[in-house]
Amino acid sequence: MDTLMVLCSLLLLLLTKNAAVLGQLDGSSRGSGSPPPARINSVTPPLRLQPSTPSITHFVNESFIIFCQTVQKDIDTKWRDPRGQTRENTKGRVHIEKKTGLLALVFEHISLDDMGNWTCEVNSIANGNRNVNVEREFFTSFELLVNQKISFGKTEQVQSVREGRDALVNCFVEGMPKPEVSWLLNGEYINTVNSSKHTRLSNGLYIKNVSQSDAGEYTCRALRITPTFSDAEQITILLRIQHKPHWFYNETMPVQFAYVGGWVNLSCDAMGEPPPSFTWLHNGKGIVGFNHRIFVADYGATLQLEVKNATQFGDYKCKVANPLGMLERVIRLRPGPKPNCPSRFELKRIYSHGFELDLRTPRMSNASEQMQIYGYRVAYMSEREFRFTASNWSYAKQRDFSFHQGQHFLIPNLMENTTYLMRAASRNLAGLSDWSVVKKFTTAAGCSWNPSLLYPLLALILASIWS
Ligand SMILES: *[C@@H]1O[C@H](CO)[C@@H](O)[C@H](O)[C@H]1NC(C)=O
Ligand SMILES: *[C@@H]1O[C@H](CO)[C@@H](O)[C@H](O)[C@H]1NC(C)=O
Ligand SMILES: *[C@@H]1O[C@H](CO)[C@@H](O)[C@H](O)[C@H]1NC(C)=O
Ligand SMILES: *[C@@H]1O[C@H](CO)[C@@H](O)[C@H](O)[C@H]1NC(C)=O
Ligand SMILES: *[C@@H]1O[C@H](CO)[C@@H](O)[C@H](O)[C@H]1NC(C)=O
Ligand SMILES: *[C@@H]1O[C@H](CO)[C@@H](O)[C@H](O)[C@H]1NC(C)=O
Ligand SMILES: *[C@@H]1O[C@H](CO)[C@@H](O)[C@H](O)[C@H]1NC(C)=O
Ligand SMILES: *[C@@H]1O[C@H](CO)[C@@H](O)[C@H](O)[C@H]1NC(C)=O
Ligand SMILES: *[C@@H]1O[C@H](CO)[C@@H](O)[C@H](O)[C@H]1NC(C)=O
Ligand SMILES: *[C@@H]1O[C@H](CO)[C@@H](O)[C@H](O)[C@H]1NC(C)=O
Repeated sequence: MDTLMVLCSLLLLLLTKNAAVLGQLDGSSRGSGSPPPARINSVTPPLRLQPSTPSITHFVNESFIIFCQTVQKDIDTKWRDPRGQTRENTKGRVHIEKKTGLLALVFEHISLDDMGNWTCEVNSIANGNRNVNVEREFFTSFELLVNQKISFGKTEQVQSVREGRDALVNCFVEGMPKPEVSWLLNGEYINTVNSSKHTRLSNGLYIKNVSQSDAGEYTCRALRITPTFSDAEQITILLRIQHKPHWFYNETMPVQFAYVGGWVNLSCDAMGEPPPSFTWLHNGKGIVGFNHRIFVADYGATLQLEVKNATQFGDYKCKVANPLGMLERVIRLRPGPKPNCPSRFELKRIYSHGFELDLRTPRMSNASEQMQIYGYRVAYMSEREFRFTASNWSYAKQRDFSFHQGQHFLIPNLMENTTYLMRAASRNLAGLSDWSVVKKFTTAAGCSWNPSLLYPLLALILASIWS
């Protein structure tokens, strides 16, 4: 066998060159499955790695090729992975490519599993030749170090924890080498050393006896400094504190009024974490039919009713619930008189950017004091907008007035020398009156300031001073 002859002569050459090598090789005798002792032959080896540094560092997903070169072109070599397994596959993420005198180990994209000592060795000669010297293997190895970018894996950016208990703000930091983690709350560094409140754990920040004041933005910051590079990454986590629902406003409107033919909004606003659900009941039953809409927001639900039938009066109950608790509130919807339409709707003053309106409505002789008119709603749009929206008043701007804010009804922020269409309605506790007729009012043209006049004027004044 040619290979055998070459190997024998190679061994002989080595033996005569340096007897100490033999001792070293004897010490490396091992079974075929176990990993090789990690070291690189110190004498002129029959094998050489290219690149030839003892350790090589790469990031996950990078590609990399290393060649195992034999001095004799026809020596058979093989690669062993860090677990001691022989690699012979010529395809795949990590594979072997063979050329005469070169055995390439190809990493198409490196993974963390590839970390460790990879060994290229001369194939043992299993040919019945029991020559001890020949059975010994020559090998050379390198250590592959794999770096992984910092990432936060499945860390949730909104987390919520129970009030009054201990809790963990999760932050799953991934990276190789492992980064150091520090924490900030609303931009302020959290001291976890000797803290009875906060403890830093490998998977997050432990908070003792959570209260509402622990809510906020937590920054999980990962930093590492290695001999070859340093980097940092951070993630911001919004921490919400779970609590049972509570009302937004204490002042309730246990009685509301409406008239048949009008509209009314019943509102129910409550905080809660997780955000509560809202349910409306009418006289203890679910609300059916087409005469209502419910506007749901995170922390409230407004029931809008179009009162078409006296049967719609009665008790409306709002139920607010989340897993930690529930609340309920009853609003009594009573019939009230429809307000009279404004009897006077005129301009009091015209400005270039607004109007002051003159609005009046006679007392409702038949209604109680609390059911009298308490203000107005004015809706308006420019002539241009009116044409543009095909006369649809639902696009109009509107402004509400209450008498307790005074008796001046000012519409500001209008364009000068522009015609507006306006209408007005009275308000009382039962809702809005019918709309007045639509009136057209035009803003003043304004005092048009011409800056080109300023300079001749200044020149005149200056000239008169100097003369
Ligand atoms: C690889 O070999 C080197 C030197 O021989 C040794 O220090 C290191 O611990 C080995 N690495 C592994 C992962 O076995
Ligand atoms: C590596 O690449 C794969 C696809 O090419 C990608 O899905 C993965 O996120 C990458 N990993 C890293 C750590 O960049
Ligand atoms: C933490 O407590 C120890 C002992 O109680 C004390 O020696 C040390 O200075 C404290 N460290 C800080 C940062 O407060
Ligand atoms: C938790 O904090 C509350 C105040 O936020 C306090 O009243 C209570 O005693 C604390 N409980 C414990 C076990 O420390
Ligand atoms: C509402 O009233 C309750 C007691 O009636 C009180 O404890 C709570 O602080 C009040 N909340 C607000 C927002 O006023
Ligand atoms: C009722 O609520 C809706 C939606 O918020 C609003 O558009 C409407 O003007 C309200 N109606 C009354 C009478 O306040
Ligand atoms: C009001 O509703 C009741 C029951 O749904 C019905 O019997 C009655 O005819 C309605 N009245 C009017 C004026 O629609
Ligand atoms: C005023 O109220 C009385 C009884 O409440 C009623 O009989 C009368 O028709 C009402 N008048 C007007 C103008 O609404
Ligand atoms: C006016 O506009 C609103 C909102 O786009 C629409 O719902 C309504 O049907 C329109 N009304 C008319 C009379 O076109
Ligand atoms: C006001 O507008 C009218 C028509 O839109 C125009 O004819 C007139 O010149 C304008 N007046 C001023 C002072 O801008």
